[in-house]
Amino acid sequence: MNREDFPMLKENIVYFDNAATTLKPNVMLDYLKEYYYKYCSNAHRGDYDISLKTDEMYENTRNIVKEFINANDSKEIIFTSGCTDSLNRVIFGYFKYILKQGDEVIITKSEHASNILPWFELKEKMGINIKYAKLNSNYELTFENLKDSITEKTKVISIAHITNVVGDIRPIKQIIKYAHERGILVIVDGAQSVPHIKVDVKDLDIDFLAFSAHKMCGPTGVGVLYGKEELLNNMKPLLFGGGMNASFDNEGVRIYKDLPYTFEAGTPNIADVIAFGGIVKYIEQIGIENISKYEKELKKYAISRLKEVKDIIIYNEESENGIISFNIKDVFSQDLAIYLNKYKICVRAGNHCAKILKDELGVKNTCRASFYFYNTKEEIDILVNALKNPNLKSEII
Ligand code: ALA
Repeated sequence: MNREDFPMLKENIVYFDNAATTLKPNVMLDYLKEYYYKYCSNAHRGDYDISLKTDEMYENTRNIVKEFINANDSKEIIFTSGCTDSLNRVIFGYFKYILKQGDEVIITKSEHASNILPWFELKEKMGINIKYAKLNSNYELTFENLKDSITEKTKVISIAHITNVVGDIRPIKQIIKYAHERGILVIVDGAQSVPHIKVDVKDLDIDFLAFSAHKMCGPTGVGVLYGKEELLNNMKPLLFGGGMNASFDNEGVRIYKDLPYTFEAGTPNIADVIAFGGIVKYIEQIGIENISKYEKELKKYAISRLKEVKDIIIYNEESENGIISFNIKDVFSQDLAIYLNKYKICVRAGNHCAKILKDELGVKNTCRASFYFYNTKEEIDILVNALKNPNLKSEII
């Protein structure tokens, strides 16, 4: 779909590293160019026409994102520098103040580093306990396993909606309902879900949602933290400075602004936030449901074709997202990625920032092919042909 919108696809590369970052369509560059050429100015600080236009475009993105995830109010949308930033802000700005020694947070071993390391820090500082909900034999999190890990001490569940190596789509709605009935809050890492499936924060009743623009055709350096208004009102900012204060005096008496500005200190990433608004509209035009359906079809096709490859080990055949993690027996995953690069095929190799998933997978590194809507079955055929090369192992050695 929409391949003609992506200048990089004219270079004849097979880009299968979309879980790391996606390619950018022309429309993103149009928005950046328009801002830098026609109305470059700071946001929320000027009284002249071009700065008012900047304010309008910047706030417009907030409204577009609000509609996209169906938040109640645009003040529940905080712009950050990425998903990692969003997760850190909620963990250190909210949970650091409400958790007590002995309280439990539930995560899983397939979480990304950005949803594990901040919790390790809190554990060390405050004596909270981290519990890993068990994964099943497909390395997926089931509702039953999540439920079994909850105790009276559980105060928060912090999990990816879709994981970045296994690609399993977690039963978030069911998990959140069960958690809320027990007074447990839920943080959803939406880095791999918001770009690929419909995420409706109201329908799912999500407390906090974090995601990045660059994994959905948007610019790098922009993320979103969504939080329910009543929760954000009790969250503390981690950054202090201009733009977030209403007043302060020499005695240190200060008043901070209300949502969302209290969390956006300093000059924000204006151009990229504006371009992100254009990208969300672009994704909406294609249709998020069409994207999910198409990626499922690509994954099904890829699995059936990859099974033709001698000595292939596929770790996540069952998951219904466009992520495939695999290895070739006796071939180091990074060597395989370097070999595929000879055919202009871009995949990621390594542990994909999910460093403790190895305890479950029984292997430290994998190759990962991850699709987006502009990928095709023909590109999958190119990957399969490269992997079927009878000289593969000798070409690597
Ligand atoms: N989190 C990104 C990935 O999975 C970088 O590759």
